[in-house]
Amino acid sequence: MLGALRRNLRPALQRTRLLLCGRRATQTPRTDEMQIRACAATYHLHDDCLALNYGGTQMHFNYVWLRDHCRSASSYNSDTNQRNLDTGSIDLSIRPDSTAVEDGHLVLTWPDGHVSKYSLSWLAENSYEVKKQSAIQPRVLWNSDIYKNANIPSSNWDTFMSCDDELKKFLQNYLLYGIAFVDAVPATVEATEAVTRRVSLIRETTYGRMWCFTSDFSRGDTAYSQLALDRHTDTSYFQEPCGIQVFHCLRHEGTGGRTLLVDGFYAAEKLRQQSPESFELLAHVPIRHEYIEKTGNHQNHMTGIGPVLNVHPWNKELYLIRYNNFDRSVINTIPHDSVQQWYVAHRELTTELRRPENELWVKLTPGKVVFIDNWRVMHGRESFTGTRQICGCYLTRDDVLSTARCFGLQA
Ligand SMILES: [Fe+2]
Repeated sequence: MLGALRRNLRPALQRTRLLLCGRRATQTPRTDEMQIRACAATYHLHDDCLALNYGGTQMHFNYVWLRDHCRSASSYNSDTNQRNLDTGSIDLSIRPDSTAVEDGHLVLTWPDGHVSKYSLSWLAENSYEVKKQSAIQPRVLWNSDIYKNANIPSSNWDTFMSCDDELKKFLQNYLLYGIAFVDAVPATVEATEAVTRRVSLIRETTYGRMWCFTSDFSRGDTAYSQLALDRHTDTSYFQEPCGIQVFHCLRHEGTGGRTLLVDGFYAAEKLRQQSPESFELLAHVPIRHEYIEKTGNHQNHMTGIGPVLNVHPWNKELYLIRYNNFDRSVINTIPHDSVQQWYVAHRELTTELRRPENELWVKLTPGKVVFIDNWRVMHGRESFTGTRQICGCYLTRDDVLSTARCFGLQA
């Protein structure tokens, strides 16, 4: 069967067609030359894929993929953006009977007579070749000077709570820099909850929905002390670490306690440039973080497994860093002769993270709420004296990004 199909395709395989906005290439362009050049598309039918050259990019589309991604009403519901087609019913050796480019669309007719039509721009936008060159989420990586010189404005409570444009600006800053601030928030747990609910759903954890802590050692975690805390990501011991961390200092009668913020992706990209082998090792060796708590009514045993650096495999974009030396558990997922190299790589990353020029120190005062991308930006604090009351919560990453996308932001 496959042989017969291939024989039928052979004449087509030997043809490469050039079309200009639905006209044959032999026609004389009558409109602006640049415009026509931008619309030019050539395609070539190979045994295992359709090659399309459009907008200066050579792309390849598997035939089953093309049938699976048909945008016709019987195959796809454009209202719900859900697939109607049963992918399990597609012949895995399927090939189009005929192929054409018409009016900026690729048109395929399949052996059962079904016609699929794809806009060339949609194909380009969804091709692997374009996706592997583009970031899912554009970011500005920063050290202390870069962030300060950018002069990112904080949002103000009143406008933030009432104006969607202000929320959109806030989210754009948050996506680009991994941190964003809202000022003049009433210094109460209720107002802090309200300001976070403006952005997303709250992620309830073992620490509660909204948490509020002082240095009373009420929980079995060093956060509940007056000690300095080195830079770290939170809840690295969750299978999916919390996406966003929110802090609001409601009151502090004493000294010290500044908050430390470090862009983990800035440091990781420095490592990728200087020591690509170390970056690769940290991106591939799974390690375990663990949290065991046995205090009063709190009985918890959490474990999360994953590499320190997490990158999308198709475009090598960093999307998650797990870095918490307090909660990193026993390393027993790599053989002994790889452990030394892992420690070398971890030290190189730590050196970058600890460079003083990468440290952004912020004094959180009552009214200033900070939102931190816990998958990217590390936080820590200096030791303090006196009573310091901090409240906050974690937000669900999916909902924050969903809010941003609904505003048309790229996330
Ligand atoms: Fe923390």
